[in-house]
Amino acid sequence: MTSIKGTNLAILASGTGTNFKDIVESAQRNELPVEVKLLITDKEEIGAIAHAKNLQIPFVVIKPRSFLNFDDWDHEVAETLVNYEIEFVVLAGVLRKIGPHTLEAVKGQMINTHPSLLPSYGGKGMYGINVHKAVVENGEKVSGCTVHWVNDHYDEGQIIGQKQVEVLPDDTPESLASRVKAVENPFLIAVLKSVLSKNQS
Ligand code: GRF
Repeated sequence: MTSIKGTNLAILASGTGTNFKDIVESAQRNELPVEVKLLITDKEEIGAIAHAKNLQIPFVVIKPRSFLNFDDWDHEVAETLVNYEIEFVVLAGVLRKIGPHTLEAVKGQMINTHPSLLPSYGGKGMYGINVHKAVVENGEKVSGCTVHWVNDHYDEGQIIGQKQVEVLPDDTPESLASRVKAVENPFLIAVLKSVLSKNQS
């Protein structure tokens, strides 16, 4: 199927890449007005790269350890976005802070998905299973996911949308994580579609 020319999109990921995969497949079915130009990761041999290979999306690994400091890494990510003419970025499971040059390279057009109802269970150390462990340990009745604009503070940009998931009495962090993930992937795509359609109108 040929794709409609849309916003040039890059996805940054550090993990399994289920959100990456869903975004690419939606775009390839012409359900999202984007061209996924690039995957950027900070690690090798992760699920997201395997999906990129299968889906024939270019990927670049930019490992922080290859740079003298955070600023140099940030510059390299920013330059890569500029070289690929990226207009919009989705952070889908990036386990590190994004720098100011990277944000500036796309003029702040960057969203993140987080597996809790922010501002609860956000910030440093609150990622992956840690989030769900804290939610279960605190006896919360409701959790979910949040899609928000990215700024230079962890998980603090303006919230675009949230989706709630009930925490069941016998939930483990793992069972809760998998139910949140199941709603998070389609929700991220719906939010992305809505944000892009507002940008383009
Ligand atoms: C998602 O749960 C997201 O909320 C968090 O990292 C996870 C990424 O999952 N920021 P995947 O790599 O897309 O499967």
